[in-house]
This record gives sequence, C-alpha cells and structure tokens, in this order.
Amino acid sequence: MTRILVTGGAGFIGSSFVHHVVENTDAHVTVLDKLTYAGNRASLAGIPADRLRFVRGDITDVDLVDSLFTEVDSVVHYAAESHNDNSLHDPRPFLETNIVGTYTLLEAARHHNRRFHHISTDEVYGDLELDDPDRFTESTPYAPSSPYSSTKAGSDLLVRAWVRSFGVHATISNCSNNYGPYQHVEKFIPRQITNVIRGIRPKLYGAGHNVRDWIHADDHSSAVLTILDKGTIGETYLIGADGEKDNKSVMELILTEMGQPMDAYDHVIDRAGHDLRYAIDSTKLRTELGWAPKYGNFEAGLASTIDWYKKNEAWWAPSKDATEAFYAGRGQ
Ligand code: NAD
Ligand code: TYD
Repeated sequence: MTRILVTGGAGFIGSSFVHHVVENTDAHVTVLDKLTYAGNRASLAGIPADRLRFVRGDITDVDLVDSLFTEVDSVVHYAAESHNDNSLHDPRPFLETNIVGTYTLLEAARHHNRRFHHISTDEVYGDLELDDPDRFTESTPYAPSSPYSSTKAGSDLLVRAWVRSFGVHATISNCSNNYGPYQHVEKFIPRQITNVIRGIRPKLYGAGHNVRDWIHADDHSSAVLTILDKGTIGETYLIGADGEKDNKSVMELILTEMGQPMDAYDHVIDRAGHDLRYAIDSTKLRTELGWAPKYGNFEAGLASTIDWYKKNEAWWAPSKDATEAFYAGRGQ
C-alpha cells in the first residue's frame, strides 16, 4: 500500500485532497498539520481510522519532519499561511511557514529520497490586465505582489533549486482560486455566504472589477493526484478550469442564489496592492497528463457550496466573529 504524507491536510484544499485520495486510491494518508487558526480537524471527519493518521505538528520542526519522512513513500505539501489580507497585516508567519517550512521539507525529501509534490498558486505570476488576451502559462515570469505570493514564489524557487542541485524528485503545481466546502470564512466566497446567513452585509473590495479564475477544490485535488501519479520530475504544471469571473459578478451570484437583492452589499476599502486579474492556461496538464475538471458549471458549484455553509454552521461559526472583528478593524 502506498503511504502519502500530506502537510496542511486539515486546511481547506489539503483536506479535500485527503478525502479524494481515500475515496479514489487504497493509499494510507498521514496528515501533518499545526492546526493554526486555519486548520480544522473536523474537516477530516468520516475518514476511516485505518486510512488516516493525524499528527499535530509544525513543518519547521526538523526532527518531527525527519521521522515522518521515514514512514512514507511520497509527500504532498499544502501547509502554508494562505491569506493575502493576513500577510499585509503580519508577514512573519508567512516567511516562517512558507519559506522555512518548505526548506525543512525539501531537506528531508533530499536526505530520505522521497517523491515530493509542492502545492503553489498562480499568484506567483503577479497579475494580468483585464483586456490581456494572454493567460498565465508555465513559462510566465515570476512577479509576485504581496507578502503571501512572494513567499509562495520563494518556496517554488527553493523546490526548483533542490531538484537541480540535489536531484530531489519533485514536481510543482500552481493553481488558481479554489472554492467549495470547508473553506475558511476569511476568504471571499465563504465570507459573503456566511455574512448573508448571519444578516451582515457582504463586503466588496473597491469596485469589484478584479477577476479571479475559479476552480472547485475537488478538481484541484484530482489534478494533484494526476501529477503525483504521472507528472515528470522537475516539471511545473498549471491547474485551472477556465472559471474567470469578476468579484462583483460573484457577489451578485451569491446574493441572487441566497434570495437577496443583487445590490445588498457594501463597497469597502480596497486591498493594498490588489492584483487585478488571474487567468490560467492549463493546456500542459490537460494534453500531457490527460486531466480534465469535472465541475464545468460555476453557478451549480457555487449553489452547492452555499448549501454546504447553510447546513454546516457548526463547522464555521467558531471562526466567524474573530474574522469579522479583524476585518472591521481594517475598515473592510
Ligand atoms: P488553509 O489556510 O485553508 O490551510 C492551511 C493549512 O496549513 C491549515 O490546516 C494550517 O493549520 C496548516 N499549517 C499552517 N502553517 C503550518 C505549519 N507551520 N506547519 C504545519 N501546518 C501548518 O489554506 P488552503 O487554502 O487550503 O491552501 C493550501 C495550499 O494551497 C497553500 O499552499 C496555498 O498556497 C495553496 N493554494 C491555495 C489556493 C486557494 O484558492 N485557497 C489556490 C492555489 C494554491
Ligand atoms: P480571496 O478569497 O482573499 O483570495 P485571493 O486574495 O487569493 O484572490 O479574495 C478573492 C477576491 O475577492 C480578491 O480579489 C479580493 C476580493 N475580496 C473582496 O472583495 N471582499 C472580501 O471580503 C474578501 C475577503 C476578498
């Protein structure tokens, strides 16, 4: 039986991947997660005990990482500080986890000769103009804008260096914005859904012209499993599902789906350095590895996500007040 170590497996996308692996393979999964404010053990509920081992710990803990690498065949690295707004407020944890944490894992992958897949974001490429006909590809130059995206870019470059200098068997994927169940209420879509449920007016940064390229987290997970299985060592793969939408349109879709007037939201202070547009060309992944997304219809995926937040208030309620207090302190 294959044994996979998943870092950050109690987070939004990491937990989606763990569920995907358990449902679609016979692999045994070990999760290494610090359970920061963003991690939630309940996101792994329902997974049989003989398929999952949960270890609470930090990816910067050299001894712990070293011992866990001896027990597995491959490692998929999701753990990160992941929220741009937090990174503008306090960058240090982003440097520690995203840079030092990735370095710690790479050293273990090198010394134990383990297959390593690094999860990253399209935000390492900076942003595009709204009318730019081009989208990001694997050869787009790195130009990150925020403390979050610059630490993710730094972690990608470490992986590339460890492949070239030390022969580490690694691949990298850079994915666009994910949506779906189990996403922390600090992020755009769940924040607005849970605001409506709580009777708080949703909040749109600036005019809302910024474009994000949405992909369902399940599709991200199937892409990562495909790369882990069939990807070429040393290669980068972009993951996207042709889901470009501007924020104002997403806000209006949420409000309409939830039976509210389309203009029942507030415009708030824009994010500093706010990236205008992300857009992914995933031709390489689709043609070389034969991957395709399953969620073709964003509106349907959004409706089922809204339904999940309505039914799972116990999962998100403990984070909601602190999240809104953080935003209120920043005028957002
Ligand atoms: P998340 O914030 O929901 O989860 C991050 C997880 O990592 C949490 O469970 C947290 O407890 C854990 N963690 C944080 N620091 C840790 C540490 N030092 N040691 C061990 N565990 C630690 O994030 P997410 O949205 O699920 O993102 C996961 C990965 O996917 C990140 O690498 C992120 O950059 C990448 N990504 C996210 C998106 C997106 O839209 N959310 C898109 C592309 C790529
Ligand atoms: P977010 O979910 O934070 O993801 P990212 O910064 O990685 O793209 O934000 C998605 C978009 O939504 C981004 O353009 C910022 C915007 N946004 C709002 O308009 N209002 C909000 O309350 C939040 C959290 C984000």
